[in-house]
Amino acid sequence: MEYTVMLPAAGSGRRMGAGENKLFLPLAGKPILVRTLSVFQQDPDCTGIILAVRPDERDRIREMLADHGITKITAMPDGGGERQDSVRACVRAFIAAGGGDEAVVMVHDAARPFLSPRVIRELAETAQEHGAAIAAVPSKDTVKQVAAGVVQSTPDRSTVWLVQTPQAFRADLLAEAEEKALSEGFLGTDESMLVERLGHPVRVVESTYDNLKMTTKVDLAIGEALLERQEE
Ligand code: CTP
Ligand code: MG
Repeated sequence: MEYTVMLPAAGSGRRMGAGENKLFLPLAGKPILVRTLSVFQQDPDCTGIILAVRPDERDRIREMLADHGITKITAMPDGGGERQDSVRACVRAFIAAGGGDEAVVMVHDAARPFLSPRVIRELAETAQEHGAAIAAVPSKDTVKQVAAGVVQSTPDRSTVWLVQTPQAFRADLLAEAEEKALSEGFLGTDESMLVERLGHPVRVVESTYDNLKMTTKVDLAIGEALLERQEE
């Protein structure tokens, strides 16, 4: 199932504390951004990559793409202040380039280099059939809702899933969800939340626990260990 991927890469990596966008940090010698892009570069079902970047990083990223043979970029819109703004810029670039309403699009954090081709495939197929599908894993830990340092409730663990990206959608559904959120001033932490607000069911595809987001220093250490294991 063919798809276009949208990669928000316009963050600042504040929690990583590297003093620059964390996506430039090397993971076993290769920048995180390049590792994520390479997964899609190598997937024959991926027909295009839309990459949201910070304007001041555009030149550096262009150079990086050339150096590492990333040729599938079809648009590089400016990202925005929030992740959701960067994703919306990708969606608008997709539409401006004539992307069809029924096409499958996938949003994926540039900071998650360990996604699996099996999960990508299942997401694309499920989104084509049902409109919306997200990658997630069952929670291994018990989850509590807490307010002011006091436990309020404990959801039944068997119903708790931890959500990742990719999140895949029929293009018209994602576009409608993004524009509705913008006009209503709603800021979500993932695309699924925006689609849920339309009342459209979102399917869950079971992903893998190694699809980590490189967020803090400990994630880099785990990421390096995962790569060492793969290369053995
Ligand atoms: N992102 C983006 N535009 C923003 C904020 C984030 O494109 N305004 C991207 C990041 O580059 C990253 C993905 O969204 O690939 C997930 O965001 P996160 O892990 O939070 O990255 P940062 O926002 O860069 O990190 P932090 O929140 O620690 O500053
Ligand atoms: Mg962030």
